[in-house]
Amino acid sequence: EVHNENGNFRVVVTKELPGERWLDILKQANCRVEVSKHPDTILDNATVKKLIGNKCDGVIGQLTEDWGSELFECLKSAGGRAYSNYAVGYNNVKVEEATKRGIPVGNTPGVLTETTAELAAALTLAAARRVPEADVFMRAGHYKGWLPTLFVGQLLQNKTVGIIGAGRIGFAYARMMVEGHKMNLVYYDPYPNKKLEEYIKQYGELLRHNGEPPVFCKRVETMEEVLKEADVVSLHCNLDKTTHHLMNKERLNMMKPTAVLVNAARGPVIDEAALVQHLNANPEFRVGLDVFEDEPAMKPGLAQCPNAVIVPHIASASMWTRSGMATLAAANVAAVLQGYAVWPKPDN
Ligand code: DGY
Repeated sequence: EVHNENGNFRVVVTKELPGERWLDILKQANCRVEVSKHPDTILDNATVKKLIGNKCDGVIGQLTEDWGSELFECLKSAGGRAYSNYAVGYNNVKVEEATKRGIPVGNTPGVLTETTAELAAALTLAAARRVPEADVFMRAGHYKGWLPTLFVGQLLQNKTVGIIGAGRIGFAYARMMVEGHKMNLVYYDPYPNKKLEEYIKQYGELLRHNGEPPVFCKRVETMEEVLKEADVVSLHCNLDKTTHHLMNKERLNMMKPTAVLVNAARGPVIDEAALVQHLNANPEFRVGLDVFEDEPAMKPGLAQCPNAVIVPHIASASMWTRSGMATLAAANVAAVLQGYAVWPKPDN
C-alpha cells in the first residue's frame, strides 16, 4: 500500500503498523510511504531487498528480519540514510554494519516498559497458579466438583522474586511483584540500577510504617545467588554473546524444584532443550515463556509440558504500546531524513 504518493523521500515499512500517528509523522516529513503487502509472513532477505528496490531513503523493519551486511548494503546502494527497528530489542540488527555505511539505527524504548512487565507478571501468575492447565481441564469437561487437591499451585505473597537484568522492564516488573504481591526482591545486574536502589529503600520503609512485615530487597553480586534464593526468577536482559544460554542445565538445576522461571526477554537466553528436560524431571517447576530459542518453532517436547505456559511473543502487545512503538519508529526515520538527527555524532 502506498501513502502520500508524491512525497520526496521513499520510506519502506516492512509490515503494516497499528495506529495512525506514525503515518502522519512520515507524511508530514514529506515521505512517500510504502507498506509491504505481506501481513502475516516473516520476510526473508530476498523479499526485503525487493521492497527496498533501487531508491529507498529509509526503512522501518521488524525484529523477525535479519538486518546485517546484506540488507544494509542493499539499503545503502538505494541511497538509504535511516533505519528503525519496530522493537526495543535489536539483536536482529548488526548495528556496526549500519554504522559502517553511515546509517543510524533507531529502536523504540520506553513505551514497552509497563506492557512488557505486565505480561511477565501475567506469565508469573499463570504459571504459579496453573491457570492455562486449569482452563484446558475445564474446556475438556473434566470438572466434576471442588476438590482440596485440584490444581494446587504456589502462593507468591512473602516469597522472593528474582530479577536477572534490572533495566527499565526489570524494574517495572519488580515493582509490580513487590507492591502487588508483597514479594521480597533479589536482583542481579552487573550494573546497579540507581532508581531501583532508591525505590527499594523507600518502599521498604513504607511497608514498615504500615506495620506490615518489611520486605527485603537487595542486589546480589552473582546471578547464582538469585537462582538459589528466589521462588520466581524473571529474565529481563538483552540477548548478546554474554547472555546466550545464560540459563543452561547447570543453572536450571540451581533453582528451587518448585520455582517459576519467566522469560519475556529473548528466547536464546534459555537453553530450551535443557529446559524441556528440566520441566519433565521436575513437575512442580514451572515456566512462563513469551519467547523461544528458534522462534517461531519450539524445541521438541515443550508444547507437551503441562508445567509450561507458552504465548507467542506478545509481551508488548497492548494497543497503546504498539501504536507508540510505531510513532517512535516513524519519528526515528523522519528525524534523520529531515536532518534533525546528526550522524555520525559530532565529537563535541
Ligand atoms: C521488542 O520490542 O524487543 C519486543 O520483543 C517486541 O515488541
